[in-house]
Amino acid sequence: MSASDFTYDGAGSALSLNELRQGLDVKRLGSHFNYFAEIDSTNRYARQLAANGAREGEIVIAEEQTQGRGRLGRRWQSPPFANIYFSVILRPRLVPADAPQITLMAAVAVAEAVDSFITQSATIKWPNDILVGGKKLAGILTEATCDPKRVDYVILGIGVNVNYRLAAMPDEIRARATSVAELTGKSVSRESFLRRLIHDLDRCYGELEESGFALLAPRWEAHFGLRGKRVRVELLDQIVAGRAIGIDRDGALLVEDEQGAVKRVIAGDVIPLES
Ligand code: BTN
Repeated sequence: MSASDFTYDGAGSALSLNELRQGLDVKRLGSHFNYFAEIDSTNRYARQLAANGAREGEIVIAEEQTQGRGRLGRRWQSPPFANIYFSVILRPRLVPADAPQITLMAAVAVAEAVDSFITQSATIKWPNDILVGGKKLAGILTEATCDPKRVDYVILGIGVNVNYRLAAMPDEIRARATSVAELTGKSVSRESFLRRLIHDLDRCYGELEESGFALLAPRWEAHFGLRGKRVRVELLDQIVAGRAIGIDRDGALLVEDEQGAVKRVIAGDVIPLES
């Protein structure tokens, strides 16, 4: 179902795409919305659309995901009508090695959108978590399909805890998750939040396409919550421990070990060892 097919029934709980579109000022993203009351995973459906030739900027959004996917094969809790779950189809002009820049760009956009709704500052936990006060508020899952020489398409999936209350969260995430409503003490209009987020994504993606990641890097660094902190990074076959010192121009995490050697980490799970 597309947004134009969707009629908001005024029940007070469904997202109103008409309201979302009001004042949505974008150049590249949000040309078309595919709205679902329930879906397995917006990333899975967006990938199917992209494989069938869908244009850049098309968005898949759902009120609820039955198999919301997180990084490293994890589940993303996706209860109905509380949060935002969406995936954007991107066709960036990037070589495959630079595809991780999409995740970094999105992290800047999500952090900046979150900052406009709360008084604290959002931090980025490399590569894809958005935290506030050390608790996870949003996650980003990018899945790229590449030719040998260029990125064909990227599915950029974003989940944000907007009106998810701690009392409604399952035990396994309650201690380490938060939401915009928990931080502000009141429910937030999901349309307003999503409009702002799509706007910020559109702006940051435009900056990446036109000027490269160098323009966004200082803002990524400004939100980087682990700088100077001791971390352990668990990779498939090894563990890297040391101090996180930032990212390089390819978006790899730089970790300085006890001997002063700087290691580049391109994938893995970062565990902070100090707060
Ligand atoms: C993570 O933190 O591990 C990434 C979470 C990404 C969740 C979003 S919700 C919308 C999109 N569809 C999915 O199945 N996953 C992403």
